[in-house]
Amino acid sequence: MKKKLLALALVGAMVATMLTGCGSASGSGAKKVGIAMPTKSLERWNRDGSYLEEQFKGKGYEVQLTFSDNNINQQVKDIEGLIADEVDLLVIAAIDGESLTQVLADAKEANIPVISYDRLIMNTDAVSYYVSFDNYTVGKLQGEFVRDALDLDNAAGPFNIEFTAGDPADNNAGFFFNGAYDVLRPYIESGKLVVPSGQTEFAQVATESWNTANAMERFQNILGSYYSDGTQLDVALCSNDSTALGVTQAIATDYAGSNAVIITGQDGDEANLANIVDGKQTMTVYKAVANEAVATLDLGVALLSGEKPNADLISKSGWSFDCAYDTSSYDNNTGIIPSYLLVPTVVTKDNIQKELVDTGYYTMENGYPKATN
Ligand code: GAL
Repeated sequence: MKKKLLALALVGAMVATMLTGCGSASGSGAKKVGIAMPTKSLERWNRDGSYLEEQFKGKGYEVQLTFSDNNINQQVKDIEGLIADEVDLLVIAAIDGESLTQVLADAKEANIPVISYDRLIMNTDAVSYYVSFDNYTVGKLQGEFVRDALDLDNAAGPFNIEFTAGDPADNNAGFFFNGAYDVLRPYIESGKLVVPSGQTEFAQVATESWNTANAMERFQNILGSYYSDGTQLDVALCSNDSTALGVTQAIATDYAGSNAVIITGQDGDEANLANIVDGKQTMTVYKAVANEAVATLDLGVALLSGEKPNADLISKSGWSFDCAYDTSSYDNNTGIIPSYLLVPTVVTKDNIQKELVDTGYYTMENGYPKATN
């Protein structure tokens, strides 16, 4: 009789283990999370990589983190490697949103859920969810900043503006550009804002790989061709900080005028924050990637427990930051990908302390912000 009870108890324990998933998040059977980041050459992805790693490791998961040097084939190889290593979850920020269809078919075949991180991965039904910031709003904030700084509704104008956008392979880049352009379009149409180069299409102003040197060269050409006669440049609308850096350099070396050009950016990279402190860049749209990592962790944990998260994840997780559950904005050509979208913030010289330092994301060292991770 006792033996029978013991056997039953053992069976019970085995069933319980099976129900909770064979590899629990602690001990030797820890589940593995594969994190594929695009490159170390753009500052933010280093921060994303370490925040994500820290979050998942903190919950007892094993983490494999790859950076692919902005090389599309390398990223495909890196993800193949993660699948071969039998990760239980993939978190991917794609270099080229359209190049992962085949490798993600393999992930799906292996039943590995995929979170598209920050950039939407296109043309694959292997993506379960998308975690990002509201990308259109990022651009909208830049456009609104310019509108308000120039007081476009009241000032006589006209003002001259040039646009610099991001990598055409990055699905976000079009959202950023359109968000800004939609705010400024009426002023361009009425003639209050003028684009002397005439370059107003995304394809004309895009920057391959978000590369600083590419942005700088293009802008040097623009300054040489359209501003060397003394034409004043009032605004350089740049989609992010790496391109803003190149444009700022071009203005420093090749612009004849002496006015302070309004320069926008995105990310809060240290070099750009230093330029903001020094008055060389006017604003950046800050995205708290530490929070993006927290949202990804809670979503990842839910997926690993076999749940199908929805808007409830936000209330259940009790995050200290705002996040919207969106089921209409991001179609990756296989259907809408349910998205968790965080809220970006405008940072200028006046609120760096409050938004970046008091919040703990950066410390001030010798008068300049340094990221804390
Ligand atoms: C975007 C990202 C931006 C910026 C850019 C360059 O996809 O959302 O924050 O970092 O890439 O890497």
